[in-house]
Amino acid sequence: MNADLQKKQDHGCAAGNGACGPLKELFGSLEKAKTLKGKSFLKLLDLSPEEIKQLLEISEILKKLKKEHIPHKIHEGKNVALIFEKTSTRTRCAFEVAAADLGMHPVYLDPKSSQIGKKESIADTARVLGRMFDGIEYRGFGQEIVEELSAYSGVPVWNGLTNEFHPTQILADFMTIEEHFGSLAGKKLVYMGDARYNMGNSLMVGCAKLGMNFVACAPAKYLPGKELTEQCLKLAEESGGTVSFISDPLEAVKGADVIYTDVWVSMGEPDSVWEERITDLLPYRVTKELMDKAGPQCRFMHCLPSFHDLGTEIGASIKEKFGLDCMEVTDEVFESGASIVFDEAENRLHTIKAVMAVTL
Ligand code: CP
Ligand code: NVA
Repeated sequence: MNADLQKKQDHGCAAGNGACGPLKELFGSLEKAKTLKGKSFLKLLDLSPEEIKQLLEISEILKKLKKEHIPHKIHEGKNVALIFEKTSTRTRCAFEVAAADLGMHPVYLDPKSSQIGKKESIADTARVLGRMFDGIEYRGFGQEIVEELSAYSGVPVWNGLTNEFHPTQILADFMTIEEHFGSLAGKKLVYMGDARYNMGNSLMVGCAKLGMNFVACAPAKYLPGKELTEQCLKLAEESGGTVSFISDPLEAVKGADVIYTDVWVSMGEPDSVWEERITDLLPYRVTKELMDKAGPQCRFMHCLPSFHDLGTEIGASIKEKFGLDCMEVTDEVFESGASIVFDEAENRLHTIKAVMAVTL
């Protein structure tokens, strides 16, 4: 028997019953996180700080299992539906690969070819899919849609991005920050750009829950809504974190551990908003000057995809219309040693796998 196979067999021994090594660790951590079993994962507001930390711990174990090629098909025979009403590279691939790694069969429903919404209501769709699948991922528009799917399906539903929240992304972001800094509490994360949409909202909630210092740096009209902000201020008080809004970029980034940004126009928004966004958000582009001002400890993060050069259709058309070579971040920062965006992208796989592993 070759060494690789021997190793797999040794580690995979009697999974669930006398399992050894990292698998044993996985079962132990899943047991600790059992409050999440059977539940949906719709937004971070629904989870306690302890539950978020447990998901991060399980992600780390799953990453170790994957890197060491140790099989972990702990949900063999289950089926999951992946509904994407908006496009995706990372989230879709992470769900598909994670499902396969856990021994499950994923079924992808693309943005056009199902009956969802057009011929069949969300409540009816949920009741149909709940009869066939063990879990359902949804990426699309309003948060109320994913909440309704969860209410009617009878199985765990996972939010793969809505207009309001992108919770699986935050797990990957936090896992990446922990890997680079060793901890989360007390770290300062500055979000630059349109902070009132899914990424700004979700980062604010996550930071507030885990004792981090969140700063949204944006013009007033791009700041998170009042109700969510009030909720997060309260959560931060409990966790020892802070939530603040600073409109001057040079002031906001001082001492930042992480500068985070996202596209200026999100999926589902009309092209007509580009001009206004560019005018409003150009001063919030992440540049080397801002990274230097933050200090050498600072890392650059982005959920991706990113317009950092002219290598995309939209990037090229914006260059033609507005003369910009990049948008929310310069290519210099994106490609620099401070950029950890691809670690972040990889961690989508391990964290999404943790969400499915725990809730099913
Ligand atoms: N960050 C993220 O959600 O990427 P995708 O849109 O490619 O899934
Ligand atoms: N705000 C972006 C995030 C993409 C991952 C969007 O909704 O398009």
